[in-house]
Amino acid sequence: MSRPLIFAANWKMNVAPAEARAFATRFLDGFRPGPGRSCWFFPSAVSVEAAAAAFGTHSWLAIGVQDVHWEPKGAFTGATSVALAAAAGATVALVGHSERRHVFGETEADTARKVGAALAGGLVPLLCVGETLAEREAGQTEAVVLRQLGAALAGLGPAALARVIVAYEPVWAIGTGKNATPADAARVHRAVRGALVAAGHPEPRVLYGGSVNQGNAAALLAEPELDGVLVGGASLDPAGWRSIVEGA
Ligand code: PGA
Repeated sequence: MSRPLIFAANWKMNVAPAEARAFATRFLDGFRPGPGRSCWFFPSAVSVEAAAAAFGTHSWLAIGVQDVHWEPKGAFTGATSVALAAAAGATVALVGHSERRHVFGETEADTARKVGAALAGGLVPLLCVGETLAEREAGQTEAVVLRQLGAALAGLGPAALARVIVAYEPVWAIGTGKNATPADAARVHRAVRGALVAAGHPEPRVLYGGSVNQGNAAALLAEPELDGVLVGGASLDPAGWRSIVEGA
């Protein structure tokens, strides 16, 4: 039997509520997910509720938010709490995406607080880690990724840790059309998986992200270290995204 795979669509700052509804209609028409395949969608916070309603409830589906704040409520203009996200229909949260870290200045301490808040509020955190091009060229890839992982997960008990899913997304591969080779990705995935097991994670799942598309998804997923993919640009077209989810 083929191993379980997660196909996660990160819509970033795209897809309005009406577009999410139209996407769901086109995506769902005749869709038959393969055994063990899950499909997760991360719309903008303003489209989470529309997406959750339009996709409906399926065992293979989850709707998530792209970011959460660690505080439960209050004067945090522009931020989304875990409870607000959950009330809109999210069951998953991206945490520590490289655009949050590098465009919006999120620190590793912030990321750790967000992981804790997501878990405390009942959302599954999809924790993103990855090195910059300079860090890669300096031979620091694994050190950076393991440092980010350690910082984000420090202090979690075994039950909390067991719910965390990780995405390895090299920063230089995101939105650039460059992607790690399957072997390159697998090497980092092995290091991540090893660190998670050492920390007590019973069954780590590690997704790969960064310029995954219809042309390279199958080759990447042929590498057994990859438990799925996190996809930005190539998840915005329903037909193209479906062919990745169905085909790879
Ligand atoms: P990309 O984005 O597929 O457009 O490179 C991936 C991500 O940022 O999650």
